[in-house]
Amino acid sequence: MTAGVHDAALARVPVIAIDGPTASGKGTIAQRVAAALGFHYLDSGALYRLTAFAALRAGVAADDAPGVAVVAGALPVAFPEGRIELAGEDVGDAIRTEAMSQAASVVAAHPAVRSALLERQRAFRQPPGLVSDGRDMGSVVFPDALLKVFLTATAETRAERRYKQLMEKGLAANLASILHDLRTRDARDSGRAVAPLQAGAPEAVLDSDDLTIEEVVAIVLERYRIAVRVQASGRSAGAGGSTLQD
Ligand code: CDP
Repeated sequence: MTAGVHDAALARVPVIAIDGPTASGKGTIAQRVAAALGFHYLDSGALYRLTAFAALRAGVAADDAPGVAVVAGALPVAFPEGRIELAGEDVGDAIRTEAMSQAASVVAAHPAVRSALLERQRAFRQPPGLVSDGRDMGSVVFPDALLKVFLTATAETRAERRYKQLMEKGLAANLASILHDLRTRDARDSGRAVAPLQAGAPEAVLDSDDLTIEEVVAIVLERYRIAVRVQASGRSAGAGGSTLQD
């Protein structure tokens, strides 16, 4: 296959892009939707967290944009069986601390870091399909995604969810400070100049305040089925285009 044909084939691989603010449940929903459809899964936030983590280890400050971009471009990362490895070391837990969340959001605001991670994210688009979650999946990384979802909930609901999650893990947690950290990160992610968190089209918004995880998964799967049908009918209309043009 030539490169052009190969690229065209990959461009037809369906993508479900799930974006949203922190603790909106994107990761859980995206993984369950991917499992239901037998699709691949990309946790794009993990790449920003890994970049922040690797930069810290290398003694590169989070606000040193060119330095962090070099780290991002050379990340020795692998995702064997769902684990997150940096140079062979399992760092799945180490990148989930609150300090790493804030550092990830600082490094993610550098345009050079975002470009360094762009192709790495697009490489996850493989048959039979991909579900990806993050902040700019639908706007920048996969603008041609078959389905775009903006998953949200109020800051209070999200803080409570994160609080419960930490308590269940047996970790110390304080609701007020979770709410404060979450608002700080939301503001930075939405206010940055490059690839800011934004809802996109109004029909993409899925407000999960009063919904269970199962209900949200069911809605996303239903929206996907509709998107597939719309795409198929568009193709058949295109095939019979001569009658439409008459
Ligand atoms: O799980 P949570 O939503 O708290 O965070 P995450 O998805 O792991 O992302 C961590 C940070 O990486 C976010 O606060 C963003 O600043 C950044 N990020 C981004 O800029 N673009 C993405 N596609 C994904 C994450």
